[in-house]
Amino acid sequence: MTRKGIAIFNMDKFLIKGGRPLKGEITVSGAKNAALKVLLASLLTDEVVVIENIPLITDFYLMVEIIKELGVSVKIFKKEHKIVLKNKGLQKVKVPLEMAARLRTSSMIIAPLLARFGQAQIPNPGGCRIGARPIDRHIKGLEKMGAKISYHPEDGYFHAQVKKLMGTNYKFPKNTHTGTETLILAAVLAKGETVLENAAQEPEVDDLIRLLNLMGAKIRRINSRKITIKGMEKLTGGEFKIIPDRNEVVTLAIAALATKGDLIIRGTQREILKAFLEKLDQANGGWEPLDKETTRFYFKSQLKATELTTSSYPGFMTDWQAPWAVLMTQAKGISTIHETVFENRFQYVQELRKLGAKIEFFNPEVKKPEKVYNFDWQDKTQFYNQAIRILGPTPLHEGILEVSDLRAGATLVLGALAAKGESLIFGVSHIDRGYEEIEERLKKLGAQIKRV
Ligand code: EPZ
Repeated sequence: MTRKGIAIFNMDKFLIKGGRPLKGEITVSGAKNAALKVLLASLLTDEVVVIENIPLITDFYLMVEIIKELGVSVKIFKKEHKIVLKNKGLQKVKVPLEMAARLRTSSMIIAPLLARFGQAQIPNPGGCRIGARPIDRHIKGLEKMGAKISYHPEDGYFHAQVKKLMGTNYKFPKNTHTGTETLILAAVLAKGETVLENAAQEPEVDDLIRLLNLMGAKIRRINSRKITIKGMEKLTGGEFKIIPDRNEVVTLAIAALATKGDLIIRGTQREILKAFLEKLDQANGGWEPLDKETTRFYFKSQLKATELTTSSYPGFMTDWQAPWAVLMTQAKGISTIHETVFENRFQYVQELRKLGAKIEFFNPEVKKPEKVYNFDWQDKTQFYNQAIRILGPTPLHEGILEVSDLRAGATLVLGALAAKGESLIFGVSHIDRGYEEIEERLKKLGAQIKRV
C-alpha cells in the first residue's frame, strides 16, 4: 500500500558497491524524534501551527496520516520541508489500528486527546522490534492526573477517559523519553501545576518544551531531571523550526570514518553530541569544528578499540551503538558495547557477521541489574544478550543482508559501504522510516548505492 508516493510495505532493496571513501558535504535533516512529537502539539490548539525543518520520512507521514484521521487539516510544503497544521475540531478519539500499530509514538496521542476531549482509545504501541517497550510509566502518570485507563485485550486498545486532567507530582520510576513527553502534553492544559521528577533529558524533549512555550505554555526544566508545567486554559498557535537529527549526524560521521573518507556535516549541535565526540577521540577518529553548527569528520589513521556502555541522555545513546559497532570492526583490538536501555538491540549482529565481522555476545557481571538497565528487568527474556565483543581490524566483504529495525538498517548500509564488493540489503522500508532519501544523499558523497 502506498500513500502520497511513500511505499509503506515495499520490498525495496539496496545494491551497494562498497570500499570507496565518502567525501563531500551534507546537511542533516530535522530530528525524527522531535518531529513526531511536535505534530501532537498541534492537537492542543485550534490555531494554526507551522513547523519547519520537518524530515520527509515514512514515520513522519504515518503520524501525519493519524492526526489527519483525527480531524486535523494538514498542508505539507515538501520543498521547504514545512508543514502547516490547523486543528478543525477533532472528529475522532480512536486511533485507527492499522495506522498506529506501526508507530510506537502513536500511543502518545492519548495525552492531547485526554487534555482536550477527556477521552482516548489508543492501541498498544508498536514501533521497532527492539524489546518489549511497554508504556506502563506513561499510563501510571496519566492515572495520577485523574485519568481512568483500562486495557481491553479483546481489541488490543487502551480505553481512557477523564473529566478534567489535574496537575500532579509524578516521579518516573525509570527514564522514559516519550513517557516524559506524553506527560508534558497532558499537563499543559491540566488544572493546576504538574511536577515531573526523574524526567528524561533527551534534547528532543526540550525541543517539544520550546514549541509548547511558544504556544503559551509555562514549562520549566528546574534541573536536569525535574520539569514543572503550569496548566493553562488554552494554547495559541505558533511557528517553529525543529532541531537537526543528532542520530543522523552520528550515522553520517561514522560513514565517513568507516569508509576512510572525509565529510563536512551541516546541522551538528556539538553540545548535544558530547558523548559521541568523546568516544570518537578515544577511537582516534578525526573531527574538527568548522563553525557553530558545522563539523568535519575524517579518517586520521588506524582506529583504536573502545569500551562503551549506552545510557539515556547525556550518555552515549542507544541509537548510536549499532553504527558504532560497524566502526569498531575497523578498530585495532577488542571493543565492547554494553547496551543498558533496550533488552534486544543487537539484531544487527548476525547481519554484520555475514560481512565477515568478528562479534561475540556476552553478559557482563552486573550487581544490581534492576538499577543498571532502563528496561524493567522482568521484561528481560533470558536468551537476549546485553553486550558484544568486537575483534578488529577485520576487513569486511560483500553479503546479502536483511534489515530488522530502523537504526539497524542504517548500520547495514554503513557495513556495506565499508565492505569490499557488492552487497544487497533487503527490508529498506525500515530505513525510509528514519532517513530521508538516504541513497540519493549518499550517492552525492561518492557512494555506489542504488535502490532496486
Ligand atoms: C525514544 O524511545 C526514541 N523514540 C528511541 O529512538 C530512543 O532510542 C529512546 O527514546 C531512548 O532515547 C522516539 O522518541 C520516537 P524509552 P522510547 O521510553 O521513548 C522501557 C529511534 O530509533 N520502558 O526511553 O520508546 C523501554 O522498553 C528510536 O529513533 C518501559 O519499560 O524509549 C525501554 O527498554 C528507537 N516502560 C526503556 O524503558 C515505559 O513505560 C527506554 O524506553 C517506558 C519505557
